[in-house]
Amino acid sequence: MSGRIGVVGSNMIDLVTYIDRMPGPGETVEAPDFAIGFGGKGANQAVAAARLGSRVTMVTRVGDDMFGPRQLENFRASGIDTAHVRTAPGLASGVAPIFVERSGENAILIVKGANAALSPADVDAAEEALAACDVILLQLEVPLETVYHTIALAARRGVRCVLNPAPAARDLDLSRLAGLSFFTPNETELSVLTGMPAGGEAEIAAAARSLIAKGIGQVVVTLGGRGARLVTADGVQAIAPVSVTPVDTTGAGDAFIGSFAHFLAAGQGAPAALARAARYAALSVTRRGTQASYAAPDEFAAFCEAHP
Ligand code: RIB
Ligand code: NA
Repeated sequence: MSGRIGVVGSNMIDLVTYIDRMPGPGETVEAPDFAIGFGGKGANQAVAAARLGSRVTMVTRVGDDMFGPRQLENFRASGIDTAHVRTAPGLASGVAPIFVERSGENAILIVKGANAALSPADVDAAEEALAACDVILLQLEVPLETVYHTIALAARRGVRCVLNPAPAARDLDLSRLAGLSFFTPNETELSVLTGMPAGGEAEIAAAARSLIAKGIGQVVVTLGGRGARLVTADGVQAIAPVSVTPVDTTGAGDAFIGSFAHFLAAGQGAPAALARAARYAALSVTRRGTQASYAAPDEFAAFCEAHP
């Protein structure tokens, strides 16, 4: 069974340079490799869910430049509905210069471009398509007003909504997140947003519970190499990490959220969906690229057999 997913979010062109080390000020350093790929947290999550078989609708703004039509083609090639993908007149496409070290660790710059023009009116234009979804996904590479507007729409229309608060935004207004089904901060975002410490297990649970007290359904705290914690009003469940040798971690968080939404929409409970998503993200880390590293269902099934 596969479900329907709506993504209200960004798309970017990833300009990925594989480096031995970052240059210092005034210095020129030769890097071994470079690749251009499709990225942006919203588009990445949409592609991950679509690749696994979900029916995905994307609400986004592409640039009025050479990259805009390529983004549209990429969505179509991924089987994503583009009825609510619009061009932002006169604006450049979002781009992300990315530097990936030998260790697989990355550093990312984002230039939002057309994504900064995604408006509450764009969301309203897609309301019926979004209301027909099982899950709506949000991130923070589009204006916060658009994010709040979508949360309110999802609550009004009774659609489960997931907010992945990345990249971190200190000015995120927690009082406008009421009605969210899932909120998925990492431990740093959790601490910054709640103003509470989030070092140990007890602190993570307390900080996450303070969000539940504000009207958020469940909190998924991602802990990198230590897995994740699902915090609900009833307790905390640990989601075990999946260990792999990293090649390129870019977009792994998006693989996690996009696949989580896929498994939720397909009818799995949150703990099972998170355990599967951890495997989907781990597989993406073993390959170069962002969307390019997201596995098809048969490859994913083989990986799951090897990582039970
Ligand atoms: O999460 C990874 C993504 O962040 C990259 O694809 C880049 O475009 C930035 O949005
Ligand atoms: Na990858």
